[in-house]
Amino acid sequence: MGLLVNYNIRRLKEFYSLTHFVETGTFKGKSICDILELDFISYSTVEIIPTWYQQAGTRFFLYPNVKCYLGDSVETLPEMLEPIPDNEHILFWLDAHLINEYTPENSEVENIEEVNIFPLKRELTVILENRDVVNDVFICDDVRMYLNMPFESPLPDKSSRCYSDIYNFIISKFSETHFVAVDLRYDGSFIMLPKKFFNNIL
Ligand SMILES: C[S@@+](CC[C@H](N)C(=O)[O-])C[C@H]1O[C@@H](n2cnc3c(N)ncnc32)[C@H](O)[C@@H]1O
Repeated sequence: MGLLVNYNIRRLKEFYSLTHFVETGTFKGKSICDILELDFISYSTVEIIPTWYQQAGTRFFLYPNVKCYLGDSVETLPEMLEPIPDNEHILFWLDAHLINEYTPENSEVENIEEVNIFPLKRELTVILENRDVVNDVFICDDVRMYLNMPFESPLPDKSSRCYSDIYNFIISKFSETHFVAVDLRYDGSFIMLPKKFFNNIL
């Protein structure tokens, strides 16, 4: 699992005037906890496993600007994005994947289709359908699950890798509006940075 704090979120927030944080895959709520001090106007996070959702609800009970959702990110993202105006800038931390490492003891992830285990492509599709992302920053974590590249921290169990067409998909959907990078550090991430902030430079 990559850590959001590996990135300089304070600098990103300042440079791209980011005001809202949207996360898929809450797990124990660590990333939100780590950046609460940065005072985003809102933090929204969605988790598919009720145990983690309930724990996060308890953890963030005292924070009115943190909203936890229970459900499949692909279905829930429209509701999460609805209150955020297009002219506000979002930091997306897309970090949902359904593997045993993240499931509570005694619960098993079985007979689930691959598209549901690795929802990134469907998440990005839904986001693009529901929002003009031209000002938004994306960090999509754990790309080592999707791509065969020399990541700093390679996947221990290669059998869980999903060889999807995610790279071509991201390039086709984002390269007009964003600089797209594959960051090989940590567990690997796709980073999409809005091009319009560089209009006078590049
Ligand atoms: C890597 S952990 C998330 C870690 C967390 N984002 C953080 O930075 O601390 C992945 C989480 O995604 C959740 N998940 C998997 N598929 C999901 C989906 N379709 N919708 C919502 N959550 C999902 C898993 O249950 C797991 O808790």
